[in-house]
Amino acid sequence: MSSRAPGRSVTVEAPPNIALVKYWGVRDPALALPYNSSLSVTLDRLRSRTTVRFDPALTEDRVVLNGEAARGGPRDGVVRFLDRVRGLAGLEARASVVSANNFPTASGLASSASGFAALASAASGAAGLALSPRGLSQLARFGSGSASRSIFGGFVEWRAGHRPDGRDCYARPLAGPRHWPPLVDLVVLVRGAPVKEVRSQDAMQRSVATSPFYAERQRALPGRLARIRTAIAHRDADRLFPLVMEECDSFRQVCETTDPELDYLTDTSRTVLDAVVALNRARGRPVAAYTHDAGAHVHVFTLDRHLAAVRRCVAEIDGVERTMVVRPGPGARPIPRAPTGRAGRRRRAAARVRSRRSAG
Ligand code: PMV
Repeated sequence: MSSRAPGRSVTVEAPPNIALVKYWGVRDPALALPYNSSLSVTLDRLRSRTTVRFDPALTEDRVVLNGEAARGGPRDGVVRFLDRVRGLAGLEARASVVSANNFPTASGLASSASGFAALASAASGAAGLALSPRGLSQLARFGSGSASRSIFGGFVEWRAGHRPDGRDCYARPLAGPRHWPPLVDLVVLVRGAPVKEVRSQDAMQRSVATSPFYAERQRALPGRLARIRTAIAHRDADRLFPLVMEECDSFRQVCETTDPELDYLTDTSRTVLDAVVALNRARGRPVAAYTHDAGAHVHVFTLDRHLAAVRRCVAEIDGVERTMVVRPGPGARPIPRAPTGRAGRRRRAAARVRSRRSAG
């Protein structure tokens, strides 16, 4: 961008995802390469919306997160990411970044995944880089590893790859959002979920260095990932649900044996996990599966026909704030700019009429 005119403004919405096979450990921090491949479901309803514009008139990057000027760590993370995009595009201009989530930030609902997937798409678009979805997933991981998966919708694998240069490390869709319509994720939001003290990127390196179970987990992961991939391909809940819980337990075991210990759950979260185990036992088959990331909220996967029973069994637990039904959804997508002029006014007036009708 050689002129002093601001570049174009690009807005992207991106969803969070919940990992069924967790990414936990970086083998090359400079290239943001993980030790193991991971697999997740991209979630509908939840979104980060991010607008980026490079503007040569700015003297520093302006970052607004959830309505407030960002400072400290969160701002530094965005600026470092913008520096990478500037490097790729040969740009000098500083940027204005405005981003907001429609769900609680830093609470275990993976706001870093949706935030950096949206930032990767919006910043690269605003910088004039025409990256493929695979290229976007490779860029997004520098903000947050799990963000690489939120570029795609549905069921997504992030391949760790083997090459030292990271060219074979990228996310790819395994099946689209409509692959398995009755599969549903009941998000159980627990009261008093602590705000994360240690960033996942730092916490996982502590596990690599200190957990006696880390190496064992790495040995088990390729087989477990392959079995989970097959269960998803066959829409086989009887196979999938026990594997999802086995993987979550392995992740938690590594966290709990990390020095100093990483304890993400509250007593309420643990009661939710126990309730899922008890329900499966009472039904004599796996009708639900729990999982959680580095946070206290719990995701309970089930099928539509068991949803009411699962909801009854967790919603009454003391300390559960509310539950939310989410499903596999689409990946990151650009939001077209609102049209200006007469055509724009006409379109906005029609939208107002439509929303009044649907409200009445
Ligand atoms: O992407 P990060 O750096 O926020 O780490 C994500 C770690 C987990 O959420 C626990 C696992 C995962 O694969 O999403």
